[in-house]
Amino acid sequence: MNEITATPAAAQPPAGCGARSLAIARTGARCFFVAPALALLAGCAGERTQSALHPAGPMAADIARVWWILFAVCTAVFVVVVLLMLLAVLRRGGHDRFRSPLGDKFIVVSGIIIPTFILAPLLFLSLGTTSNLRMPETSVTIEVVGYQWWWEVRYPDFGIVTANELHIPVGEPVRLEMTSADVVHSFWVPELGGKRDLNPGITTTFWIQADRPGVFRGQCAEYCGVQHAKMGFLVVALPVNDFATWVSERQEPHPEPVDERLLRGREAFFTGQCHACHAIRDTGATARVGPDLTHIGSRLSLGAATVPNNRGNLMGWIANPQPIKPGNLMPPTYLETDELHDLTDYLMSLQ
Ligand code: CUA
Repeated sequence: MNEITATPAAAQPPAGCGARSLAIARTGARCFFVAPALALLAGCAGERTQSALHPAGPMAADIARVWWILFAVCTAVFVVVVLLMLLAVLRRGGHDRFRSPLGDKFIVVSGIIIPTFILAPLLFLSLGTTSNLRMPETSVTIEVVGYQWWWEVRYPDFGIVTANELHIPVGEPVRLEMTSADVVHSFWVPELGGKRDLNPGITTTFWIQADRPGVFRGQCAEYCGVQHAKMGFLVVALPVNDFATWVSERQEPHPEPVDERLLRGREAFFTGQCHACHAIRDTGATARVGPDLTHIGSRLSLGAATVPNNRGNLMGWIANPQPIKPGNLMPPTYLETDELHDLTDYLMSLQ
């Protein structure tokens, strides 16, 4: 941090280099502090999303509380250690003014006894919080399956299948049963709770709860391949009545399209081979390679929270999703322009 002071006299550079070295050291010191400060400030800018320090549920609140206590204790320890280091530097010349009254016992007291008194309460705080995080009684169960690089979301009690979006009722703990179709993924909604891995061949259970309505962004938190960073999802927390409405609307069968354009779009879904990977309820398309599209028109995002869901993005995604999310498993779709428009309209109509 302060290389000039800490450099032994024998190692001092020749006098001619002194001013330049000092300038370089000062610039280095400035960068040392300025770069992290800018990075921290950058984190404050713009819309707040995915902040574990702005909890919106009981689990996240417990975790945030532990974080703030650890932060306060560690900051205090850091300050004391830095002060002691400065004392050591000042004593370098052999001054005895700062000699510890404890003598050699200082090592035992400050190296063993004090750390024990600091770390033991933190250990119990952490253990206590962990036991608080046990799954409470739940009324809603959601099955989540991780794929490279999207999330299948199933409501077994309601017969609803969707993707990359979890709708949950506010104020109620929701049980999650999670697994992976390929590699290890990790489910994390910083504003609602901690992380839980999704492992192939194993079902892990977890729970989340939101205490206020809102849309909370989640993120895969385990490196899982080239598009790991774009494996996001959204948790939409709805007041209990709105959640019930959402469920009943999703359960209603899609009416047969009357519009010629939508009928042509549905045909294009099959001629364009979309049904080889995607399912749409009540149409005979049942594949599970890619996300279920039964409610695609009502979803907020495309490509696992990569871009907002609107007609333009959807058409671009169907035509060729690779520029939006390079490496994803969906190939370009070769359709005539008219068919592409019709297909997009049809998919947007699927609420
Ligand atoms: Cu899935 Cu990272």
